[in-house]
Formats: sequence, C-alpha cells, structure tokens
Amino acid sequence: MTIQIDSIRTVAVLGAGTMGNGIAHVFARAGYDVILRDVEQRFLDRALDTISRNLDREVKKGKLTEAEKPVVLQRLNPVTDMAALARADFAVEAVPERLDLKTAVLREADAALPERAILASNTSSISITTLAAVTKRPERFIGMHFMNPVPVMTLVEVIRAIQTSDETLAATNALCEKLGKKPIPANDAPGFVSNRVLMPMINEAAFCVMEGVATPEAVDAVMKLGMNHPMGPLELADFIGLDVCVDILDVLYKGFGDSKYRACPLLRKLVAAGWLGRKSGRGFYKFA
Ligand SMILES: NC(=O)c1ccc[n+]([C@@H]2O[C@H](COP(=O)([O-])OP(=O)(O)OC[C@H]3O[C@@H](n4cnc5c(N)ncnc54)[C@H](O)[C@@H]3O)[C@@H](O)[C@H]2O)c1
Repeated sequence: MTIQIDSIRTVAVLGAGTMGNGIAHVFARAGYDVILRDVEQRFLDRALDTISRNLDREVKKGKLTEAEKPVVLQRLNPVTDMAALARADFAVEAVPERLDLKTAVLREADAALPERAILASNTSSISITTLAAVTKRPERFIGMHFMNPVPVMTLVEVIRAIQTSDETLAATNALCEKLGKKPIPANDAPGFVSNRVLMPMINEAAFCVMEGVATPEAVDAVMKLGMNHPMGPLELADFIGLDVCVDILDVLYKGFGDSKYRACPLLRKLVAAGWLGRKSGRGFYKFA
C-alpha cells in the first residue's frame, strides 16, 4: 500500500509528558492537526502550558511571529478519550518507558486508529520489533526516536522493525522532513545507535570518577575542551536522569549479554540515594 505523505493531516500523540508535548509542538508548528492524548486533564493542561511557553521562546528568537502562536495552539486538541484517534492518519506513542504500559497503550491505540494509519513509538530502548508484534499493523509500525528537547533537536532516529514495510519507512522519513527534522535510519537492535554509543561513554565517565581517575568537572572538561562535545558526559547524564541511564544500560546488558554494558556501581549508588540528576536537584552535580 503506497502511503501518500500529503494525505497525512491529523497526527495523534499519546502521552503529554516531556517528549509528548515537544512532539505535539513540532507537529502543530508544521501545520498538522494534533490530537494530544493523556490519561488525566491535568497532564494535558500542563503540556499546553509548556507548549505555550516554548512557543513564546520561539517568538522571541524570531522563529515564529506573535500572530502565528495562537494559530499553532489552535491546532492542538487535548483529549483523554482514546476514541478520538479514529480520525488520525499517523500516531506517535510517548508514554513512560515500561513494556507493560506501552503494550496496553499500543493495543488500545491500534484498535482505535483507522486501518491506514501508521503507528510509531518514541521508545528509547524497547525493541520496536516486539512492540510491532503486539499490534495488528506490524508492517505499519515503526520507531521514531525524537531527541530532548524536541523543538530544538534536529535528529529523529527512525528505527525499522523486522516487520516494517518500505512504504512505512518512506512515509515516516518524509514526515520527519516536513517537521524540519533530519531522519537517520537504523535497524532495530538494543539501544539503536544513539544510546548504544552514548551510554557506554557516560558509563565509562562514571567509572573514571568512581576509580578516582578524575573529578566529574575534569572528566567533562576533557570531553568538552578536547573532543569538542558541547556538554560533558556527566553533565549530560544529569540532564537525562541517572535512573534513565541505568535503565538503558540494563537494556543493553540484557539485550547483548555482554559485560561491556555493565552499569557502573557508582551510577547505581547515586540512583539508590535518590540523586537522579537535574530533576531531583542532585546527581554528579548539585543544582540550586
Ligand atoms: N525524556 C527524554 O529525554 C526522552 C528522550 C527520547 C525518548 N524518550 C522516550 O519517550 C517516552 C516518554 O518519555 P517522557 O520522558 O516524555 O516521559 P514522561 O513521564 O515525561 O511522560 C509520559 C506521559 O505519558 C502519560 N501516560 C501514562 N499512561 C498513559 C496512557 N495510557 N495514555 C496516554 N498517556 C499516558 C503520563 O501521564 C505522562 O504525561 C519514553 O518511552 C522514553 O523512553 C524520552
């Protein structure tokens, strides 16, 4: 079945958290009618507030005019009812990273969406092949791994499950371009490319601190000044959340059965202390 990119007009986003609000923002900004679905109205209200503030930032930067802002906001339809997906041409799932939860949400979405619609998951680490298999549209299922913050970051890692059709891949790539994003293809494997390369670097940086090789500041300075990274690996780990880093390392460790992905004990210790990084006020660094 050829999928006409211009026939995609309405996009559903499942989950209005950190990633969901960013994904809804970029689709609305690109002219799509967006159905934003979360389980409670308060999460939707919070997402719309965040989107409004992020649009203000774009107006200040001159990326959007003052007059365009209400037009973009108008394209967002917040809903709690999954039945609203009946008019969506494309859907992106961005609910928390738990297989049981994603399975339940994807099954519900699959039943509510029209047959022609493509269903994408923004998972960071769960197998796209496994998720595709829980739906009745495995050939129209794909991974669309947006980066945080979504309105700012250009990359979308597009992950093809073994079941994904060529048409679904082509339509998803074309849609990314319409959003002004750069789709980079990868096949389904633990951590895809982004986390498979990034997480071992963060892990090794944590080992350097644990073994007393260098302080977090020194490790980050080496990578920024010497390797031209805009952020040091430990600064980045604090930004991502140390609990999220440990979870992803565990996925790599289990998925490959290779000890090189063993999470650094210091990372686990910081998580056990509740020092999760920026979101909890302390990780490798302290945040005021
Ligand atoms: N945060 C990141 O930096 C990042 C980056 C790339 C990918 N991801 C992936 O994106 C996904 C979402 O992560 P997040 O950081 O936005 O999480 P989050 O916790 O900020 O948001 C998740 C949202 O989903 C909602 N939700 C829960 N159950 C739901 C349901 N049944 N239907 C609809 N909504 C439901 C929650 O109420 C919440 O608002 C995860 O798979 C994560 O791995 C996250």
